[in-house]
Amino acid sequence: MTIALITGGNKGLGKAVGEQLGRQGMTVVLGSRDASRGEEAAAELRKDGLDAHTVTLDVTDGSSVAGAAAEIDKRFGVLDVLVNNAGISGFRAGPPSQADLAIVREVFDTNFFGVITVTNAMLPLLRRSSAARIVNVSSRVGSLTRHTDLTDYFARSPASSAYAPSKTALNMLTVQYAKELFAEGILVNAANPGAIATDFASAMGLTLERTAADGARVIVKLATFGRDGSTGAVWDDDGRVPW
Ligand SMILES: NC(=O)c1ccc[n+]([C@@H]2O[C@H](COP(=O)([O-])OP(=O)(O)OC[C@H]3O[C@@H](n4cnc5c(N)ncnc54)[C@H](OP(=O)(O)O)[C@@H]3O)[C@@H](O)[C@H]2O)c1
Repeated sequence: MTIALITGGNKGLGKAVGEQLGRQGMTVVLGSRDASRGEEAAAELRKDGLDAHTVTLDVTDGSSVAGAAAEIDKRFGVLDVLVNNAGISGFRAGPPSQADLAIVREVFDTNFFGVITVTNAMLPLLRRSSAARIVNVSSRVGSLTRHTDLTDYFARSPASSAYAPSKTALNMLTVQYAKELFAEGILVNAANPGAIATDFASAMGLTLERTAADGARVIVKLATFGRDGSTGAVWDDDGRVPW
């Protein structure tokens, strides 16, 4: 039995990752800050014959995260895959010179500090796995290389005070966890899913063609790396990409 926890698993990319890992035979636990929305999503996956469960988990709330870890410990006693997927765009934060700091803090609380809170709470369970994998869901928007290459689309896109910096910080955090956990055989990577049609994008008025299932593929690939899989890298569908 292989157990996977996906934060923000009640919809969008997280739910699609749950579905794809479930189809590979994993027992999936969808983390959801709203219990009933989590249960609805898990019930849909169960209808398709998958072994899907849910835990209530708000990544910004330490006691909720500790409760989720205790629940997974009680039900399964181990965790093999952690997908840190929950994230928000904070797209109204504005450019740095006009930053709405309350929004910037909210974005970092979720996209960065939340990942530390969840990872550290789940590490005792991950350490009981023979081949634990952690995948942090990042974004192309977090790439320093792309933002500083004047020929690149992202270098010409509006300046961001919250989301892009939060994903850049998440990328570095991925490297630091990878360094620390390498000796224990725990592989830690970041995934860039590409621009995906989810509520996240539609709230910004974006109409996109790639589906959540398309975006989930790279996340699932990193979550199922074998022993010789890389660690401390950022990946998209085409392979490793620059930070
Ligand atoms: N869509 C894209 O184009 C795109 C591109 C690159 C990267 N990403 C990344 O992909 C990840 C998933 O995004 P998505 O497109 O699937 O967006 P989404 O449909 O808006 O889903 C976001 C998920 O995160 C959850 N969430 C937000 N704050 C949370 C918190 N404090 N605690 C627990 N869960 C929380 C949401 O829960 P609720 O339902 O309760 O709000 C929801 O389940 C994010 O990290 C995002 O940055 C998305």
